[in-house]
Amino acid sequence: MLSRADNEFLTQSGKGTPMGELLRRFWMPALLSEELPERDGPPKKIKVLGEDLLAFRDSTGKIGIVEPHCPHRGANLYYGRNEECGLRCAYHGWKFDTDGKCVDLPTSPPESSYKDTIRLLAYPVREWADIVWVYMGPRENVPELPQLELGLVPAASRYVTKKWQDCNWVQSLEGGIDTSHFSFLHKVLATDGEQMRAAMSKAALADQSKPDDRIRWVQNDARPRFQVLGHDVGLVIGGGRKTDGPDLYWRIAQVLLPNHAYTPAAFAGEIYYGQCWVPVDDGSCWIYSYCWQPERPLTNAERTKFAGGFNVHSEVDAGYMPLRNKRNDYLIDRAAQKHATFTGITGVSEQDAAIQDSQGPIQDRTREHLGPTDIGVGEFRKLLMGSARALARGEEPAAPRLAHRYAVRSGGWVASPDKDLATVMTERFGHPRGYVGGQYGLGD
Ligand code: FES
Ligand SMILES: [Fe+2]
Repeated sequence: MLSRADNEFLTQSGKGTPMGELLRRFWMPALLSEELPERDGPPKKIKVLGEDLLAFRDSTGKIGIVEPHCPHRGANLYYGRNEECGLRCAYHGWKFDTDGKCVDLPTSPPESSYKDTIRLLAYPVREWADIVWVYMGPRENVPELPQLELGLVPAASRYVTKKWQDCNWVQSLEGGIDTSHFSFLHKVLATDGEQMRAAMSKAALADQSKPDDRIRWVQNDARPRFQVLGHDVGLVIGGGRKTDGPDLYWRIAQVLLPNHAYTPAAFAGEIYYGQCWVPVDDGSCWIYSYCWQPERPLTNAERTKFAGGFNVHSEVDAGYMPLRNKRNDYLIDRAAQKHATFTGITGVSEQDAAIQDSQGPIQDRTREHLGPTDIGVGEFRKLLMGSARALARGEEPAAPRLAHRYAVRSGGWVASPDKDLATVMTERFGHPRGYVGGQYGLGD
């Protein structure tokens, strides 16, 4: 349970709020590379951390992320012309490059130096791992991009997309790291093929074709033993469940500051999944959902499966709005809920979205009652709020300066019950916190 003041502290991300300032110390996904497909193409309206911005790709392919209003008399540059390495205002022709520099001011005499005094707010931008990243913090200290494994593998080995979510980013991320809900929210009740087909997306069904002990262990043990370990850039949250014998089945998630989380299921050789929650404003966010396979390229069949909605990936329309969303009650099917799945909602991602949105645009944490399976959520809040409080006192967070430490994996493992989480992780990943940067020459 949080006080009203702490709940606001945790969930507000606007400029000048403590959490908003912390988020601005890190690179944020601003949009997907595919949203700016062509040079000199139309600019794109975006909103990040409550700030309205414009993104455009210039004639050389470089991307700018700038404030939308022209410094002359405030016209919106969205209506401007993206031409010859700059965005030209449609009102009186002032033109700006991707760095916000005024490169043409046709209403002043050519010999005038007035142009050199005019600037458009432009944030540093990088394009990496099929994502356009923006840094909205203090300019004197721009960090390196976090070296997520997603961006270290070849492009053919990853899949990246995004989906809209109608609630505050924190409660949605909390859903991502609360691995105890798998025993309920995502439960499949049906045993006969026809009912399952009625309840699951085609993609999910294809994957259910092989029987998996892990699903049964998760469904049968609703009280995983949790252990949380800190590391340089986040937390590891492990939940151990009973198997058929004496061993424990561990599901180990990663939380990476400030807003990434990796799912806990992958066994060695499988596909790794993660998400990044980027506030649009305090009542909605974009979730960048991604996956990667470090050992091989993804197949076309796998890409088709992800596009159809699978695991963290939603089935979305051309604007990345999930087809089953708040406006249509996620197309909940009450008959399927009785006989086929716990929710009657098709798709794991959509089941998550429905329940997270249902907590309200911003969950009222003054009324919650946490229990033993919420330990990961509690530790995440402590870490995030502690980092924001420290920053408000003038202590800069260390994580943005430790970009290589973001090269970690999460996943599952079966181990004897006397082993602690660090030992289990060393067995599974070769490192007690799941660090794999050494494989990419990033050092220990
Ligand atoms: S308002 Fe943009 S050039 Fe005048
Ligand atoms: Fe979930």
